[in-house]
Amino acid sequence: MTEPKKKRFLSGMRPSGSLHIGHYVGALENWLRVQHEYECYFLIVDWHVMADHMGEVAMIRKNVIEVALDWLAVGLDPNENSFVVQSQVPEGAELQSLISTLVTVPRLNRNPTLKAEIRQLGKEQGQSDEEADDISRARVSVAFYNYPISQAADILLPKAHLVPTGDDQLPHIELTREIARDFNRLYGEVFPIPEALIGRVPRLVGLDNNGKMSKSLGNTIQLGDPAEVVTRKVMGMYTDPTRLRATDPGHVEGNPVFIYHDAFNPNKEEVDDLKERYVAGKVGDVEVKRKLAAALNTLLEPIRDRRAYYEQHMGEVRDALYQGTQRAKRLAEHTMAEVREAMGLSSYFK
Ligand code: TRP
Repeated sequence: MTEPKKKRFLSGMRPSGSLHIGHYVGALENWLRVQHEYECYFLIVDWHVMADHMGEVAMIRKNVIEVALDWLAVGLDPNENSFVVQSQVPEGAELQSLISTLVTVPRLNRNPTLKAEIRQLGKEQGQSDEEADDISRARVSVAFYNYPISQAADILLPKAHLVPTGDDQLPHIELTREIARDFNRLYGEVFPIPEALIGRVPRLVGLDNNGKMSKSLGNTIQLGDPAEVVTRKVMGMYTDPTRLRATDPGHVEGNPVFIYHDAFNPNKEEVDDLKERYVAGKVGDVEVKRKLAAALNTLLEPIRDRRAYYEQHMGEVRDALYQGTQRAKRLAEHTMAEVREAMGLSSYFK
């Protein structure tokens, strides 16, 4: 196994919409920190979205570009790192198919994240968890069921050492590690065993206090939202429901407005002061929210500006995707030659 000069870092995002502030604190902030330190591959996983949005070609293609725009907007450097479109490196499908021989069906069935997501697929139609499970089991595609293995292939293809993700992705990283170990044991050392790296805020609650922030639930702030939209969304945020007047003592613990202050307001003194006064019934929700909106807008302003620049220079966006994908493709071809050789699949006809 030849070691690259820098450690390789790989992560992926689904092109199912533009990105929001949960992606920022959960992942992008980490990516920005390590982008000069590691050899980074940032993947736009269009195959993953196809697994539960069959046939929605226009939506997926549009969102591949949206995600690339957001990445450039937050300041990821596409020259030093590689932005990669998953489907454009088809070696990933070959690797997925080969490593799926190492994973048993019960092993997939035990994956808690996959279980929860399959249940979610049936939730629109089913009332109880049981009903939802029945509906989803009938609707889930083999591709969706297999996506943890596809994700393992994403990670193993460039032989990544580090995989930064949200905490919900840990079962997939664990699966990848097991696949890598089993592969190396059966066929010889090919893959490094990847490590997971969890973001500062592994999962940000939605504006409405829903445990999951998602554009389709309408409880997010998108990275590209204009300042007035950010302010309006913050002013409408769910807060302490037990507090009717500004003079009532409020609850800070588990209050999304304060969770966001902790996540996005760099002025810790201001946050501590607001918390103290909130608990004592000495500050109104309006002031707390105004200060949060201001902190968010300070963070988002340069991101919005860069996004506006790239929206006017779409050639640079496509070029970033093209160059990065080409680099990933060369690496993938190299890994697959090694994999075929190790598995006794090369030179049949010589
Ligand atoms: N499954 C991840 C998600 O839904 C996305 C993803 C695909 C990914 N391939 C990956 C993340 C590889 C990390 C590494 O968010």
